[in-house]
Amino acid sequence: MAEHVRVMLTEEEVDAKINEIGRQISKDYEGRQVHLICVLKGGSFFMCELAKRITVPVSFDFMSVSSYGGDTKSSGVVKIVKDLDESIKDKDVIVIEDIIDSGRTLSYLLELLEQRGPKSLALCTLLDKPERRVVDVKVDYTGFQIPDEFVVGYGLDYDQRYRNLPYIGIVEFD
Ligand code: IMP
Ligand code: MG
Repeated sequence: MAEHVRVMLTEEEVDAKINEIGRQISKDYEGRQVHLICVLKGGSFFMCELAKRITVPVSFDFMSVSSYGGDTKSSGVVKIVKDLDESIKDKDVIVIEDIIDSGRTLSYLLELLEQRGPKSLALCTLLDKPERRVVDVKVDYTGFQIPDEFVVGYGLDYDQRYRNLPYIGIVEFD
């Protein structure tokens, strides 16, 4: 079956939004250092672009998580595939995600990170699908709220492909 990607948000629109978030974070964290935590792999493109636009000192780290399949998935249990390299104790942490869907991954992850004693913990996501939310999560910075459609690009994949697209699109089957 042939497939193609229909553009939902252009590269220019995404770039402009990341500029805006970068400015806001730089303002909110003035006089402090921010420690960005990228949730792999989807958050990687967003974090790199965002980090370039933040004017306060920045450090960052990576984490990789996956949902347990089957029954336990609904309980919101996620497995840490790759943990952080450094402690987040007393740091001003911002978790960087590609998209929040059900909210399960993030609510679990934020709880886990909170236990490690950061000075502050915020959440920044490029995309949000509020209609799909099952677990409540407080999002501090959102790029775009989008309808319930499966999107790719800017780090987001369909079967590991399309992460490299410089825009956000919807996979359509011909
Ligand atoms: P949730 O919020 O725990 O349901 O899961 C969010 C994760 O599911 C994201 O970090 C993505 O990896 C994946 N995901 C959710 N919606 C999409 C989508 O539209 N395209 C690609 N990946 C998605
Ligand atoms: Mg993700």
